Amino acid sequence: MNPQEGQPSFELVRLASGAWAVRDEAFGEIMHPGCGPAVEAARLYVEQLRLAQRFAAQQGREVVLWDVGLGAGANALTMLQAASAWPVRVRLLSFDLSLEPLRFARRHAGRLAYLAGWQGVLDVFVEGRGWSGTIGEAKVQWEFVSGDFAVRMAEPDLALPAPDGIAYDPFSPQRNPELWTARLFRQVFRRLDPTRPCLLATYSRSNRVRVALLLAGFFVGRGCAVGMKEETTVASNRLEWLDRPLDVDWLARVRRSATAEPAWEPGEPPGPLRPATWEALRRHPQFAAGPEGASR
Ligand SMILES: C[S@@+](CC[C@H](N)C(=O)[O-])C[C@H]1O[C@@H](n2cnc3c(N)ncnc32)[C@H](O)[C@@H]1O
Repeated sequence: MNPQEGQPSFELVRLASGAWAVRDEAFGEIMHPGCGPAVEAARLYVEQLRLAQRFAAQQGREVVLWDVGLGAGANALTMLQAASAWPVRVRLLSFDLSLEPLRFARRHAGRLAYLAGWQGVLDVFVEGRGWSGTIGEAKVQWEFVSGDFAVRMAEPDLALPAPDGIAYDPFSPQRNPELWTARLFRQVFRRLDPTRPCLLATYSRSNRVRVALLLAGFFVGRGCAVGMKEETTVASNRLEWLDRPLDVDWLARVRRSATAEPAWEPGEPPGPLRPATWEALRRHPQFAAGPEGASR
């Protein structure tokens, strides 16, 4: 069952860092539980998606950002804040089951520091009509795409602008198994524009998730440490856009792992790599071109 089909219910929680965050009671998870919404959104998503570089390079052309799991809006607003310093056109698509988490956050804007100054924008956005206007130097079109992201991605008639950056922030695979499958990542990858570099950042460092991204066609690298997380993940349709691509040593470890086979359907239990998965990884251009090959 979709947990948000019941009565949505949220609470504010104080993190060890002192920052306030939103807990979704139905899912049983906190949004940005590590060092809090503002720091995580900036470090994990804005920096790793190289937004300053994208905005600097793409003045005059629309920059398209996908915000998967709008939630309480920290990633969306932090990305818009980053854009405000640049004379760019930004189209931000926020995906979620509903606007309820953002409405809750709006009602508690006094405690959620990252919402300061955004109340006027949010008052319009939470009505479900989106928001467009100027923020600092940037011209912004912010839209809400409602519904189950996995279902929406599979809709052939859903025309969406191809993203330059994807902040991928669902709940954990335990709570959101439908959003971490190789099948879904493949559908996302097919929506990229092959002529434009795209970066995807996510907090997970799970081998299963990384293998799923590789099978979908992404190149995959290690992401920064943030909060309690020693590492996160960055993926791209360009190998050269990754600072720390996964290497053949990682691949060798994954081959020995008892749990690295990704889920193709939600809820599939982990297991060792299937022969077809191993073959696909071995032939993936990220590894096939390596000096030692990937056969060991
Ligand atoms: C970790 S929270 C996102 C936090 C948010 N990025 C922020 O900065 O505040 C995960 C979000 O994913 C949403 N979600 C869960 N399942 C979903 C699904 N199948 N499709 C779309 N969104 C989903 C939840 O409603 C929740 O708001």
